[in-house]
Amino acid sequence: EALAAENHENFLKCLSLQSNTISKVIYTQTNSSYSSVLKASIKNLIFSTPTNPKPVFVITPFHVSEIQAAVKCSKKNGLQIRVRSGGHDHEGLSSISDVPFIIIDLINFIEISVDVEEKTAWVESGATIGQLNYRIAEKSQNLLTFPVGTCPGVGVGGHFSGGGYGVLLRKYGMAADHIVDAHMVDVKGRFLNRESMGEDLFWAIRGGGGASFGIIVSWKIKLVAVPPTVTVFNVPRTLEQNATKLLFKWQCIADKVHEDLFISPLLLRVNSTMVSVFTALFLGGVDRLLPLMQDSFPELGLTRKDCREMTFVESIVYLDGYEVEEPINVDVLLGRDFHVRFFRGKVDYLTEPIPEEAFQGIYDIFLEQDQETNGVLMFFPYGGKISEISESEIPYPHRAGNIYTLLYYAGWDLESTDDTYQRHDNMLKKLFNYMTPYVAKNPRTAYINYRDLDVGTNNKLGHTSVQEASVWGKKYFKNNFYRLVHVKTMVDPENFFRNEQSIPPFNLVK
Ligand code: FDA
Repeated sequence: EALAAENHENFLKCLSLQSNTISKVIYTQTNSSYSSVLKASIKNLIFSTPTNPKPVFVITPFHVSEIQAAVKCSKKNGLQIRVRSGGHDHEGLSSISDVPFIIIDLINFIEISVDVEEKTAWVESGATIGQLNYRIAEKSQNLLTFPVGTCPGVGVGGHFSGGGYGVLLRKYGMAADHIVDAHMVDVKGRFLNRESMGEDLFWAIRGGGGASFGIIVSWKIKLVAVPPTVTVFNVPRTLEQNATKLLFKWQCIADKVHEDLFISPLLLRVNSTMVSVFTALFLGGVDRLLPLMQDSFPELGLTRKDCREMTFVESIVYLDGYEVEEPINVDVLLGRDFHVRFFRGKVDYLTEPIPEEAFQGIYDIFLEQDQETNGVLMFFPYGGKISEISESEIPYPHRAGNIYTLLYYAGWDLESTDDTYQRHDNMLKKLFNYMTPYVAKNPRTAYINYRDLDVGTNNKLGHTSVQEASVWGKKYFKNNFYRLVHVKTMVDPENFFRNEQSIPPFNLVK
């Protein structure tokens, strides 16, 4: 302990020598704001409870020079770094670690500058994707946007560096497909842009998980066009209303319908039955949508009164919350706290439809739970742009051949009993096991932004070989895993930036 205290002292001394502004943004464990700063960005409350390991310091820099100082001094004093942007990591890796660590929290790096003429923007990592959507809509009078995920509170830093997809994935692909430059601090504390980091590292940070490679401070992105009016619908169907047949049919058409149409069902339990909610975004007006639906999915029986026209930015709010009053208040996108709860999640990719008769087994698992244990399956359709881009263009490899991705999610608001976590985790594991015959295999693929430590981890203490890491790495990245190892070996051969699922270098020094 004495050694640790001395180390921490040395760390602080080192920082003050490197930067004369940093003392104002360091929170030590004795600082009265430490706890609130630490918790402010933990969006999965599982990692906010008192038993979780705490960082020695939280640093909330305003200047790049402060990040550079923190990297240099952490390295010198044997402290690990956890970088945090929006704090949504499913497994809490941006906020906890088993070894002595600091958090560099980018909560003050939130600038967004939009160039409507050039159709580009620079966005800092600590901004949320909701703030980004809001600012682009504001500057472009609702004609431009950026293809990101559906929860407005998600941070740009984790989202972009892990790939990032949402309702525009069929039209435009992933967020990371549209990044054209980035600014980052590397393991030596150098400030790099695309040119100085080189194309290999620039490739790696667009979907390979930023935390293995350094601290990405900001991103230059290419904006995409949206029409002034889009249409949304949100149509529930019970088992008595043929939910099973509809889900089966959806699987057969979802990736083949017009790329302007994104239909994404949810499946959940309501009292003692199951309901499927068909949620959709269409990039156009209702007059164009209805004939398209009549052609491709008449069984749903969509009518004009199920549909609502609005601007794209309004649809983000609507699709996140559903029951939204007129007029939709888009200012909520500027906030940071959406869906802050206890949650667990898992993901699968499907290359074949689940047979119609197999749905009953899913329902049984939901219905055998007690009333307090709840979960949801979310189906995200593929096809269109996301499937046209090659598997190796960026590290995110799940492209052509997939018909949809399936997210298993369980969330709860209170730790009402000691076994709340266990009950939800068990339910998800049961669903995940049940689905084994129906999902992508060899490997059973996964998505780093829906991080899941059950798919494999690095050794907690000591050396992890490339072969050991390939167990989880190939699930996230397929063969791109080996290129990520190659990049890691070039830029961080001593494996300073590491966590439970970071890319290891070849010839590990320690
Ligand atoms: P957080 O700050 O926790 O970072 C996540 C990881 O990235 C950590 O390992 C962290 O160290 C690292 N990191 C963060 N900032 C970095 C930086 N600047 N430089 C280097 N490394 C950095 N995904 C999706 O694709 N589509 C979706 O629709 C959704 N929806 C969604 C809803 C909800 C409620 C949750 C909780 C999550 C999602 N996600 C998602 C997943 C989300 O994209 C994923 O969790 C992101 O990594 C979150 O990024 P944050 O910056 O918020 O997380």
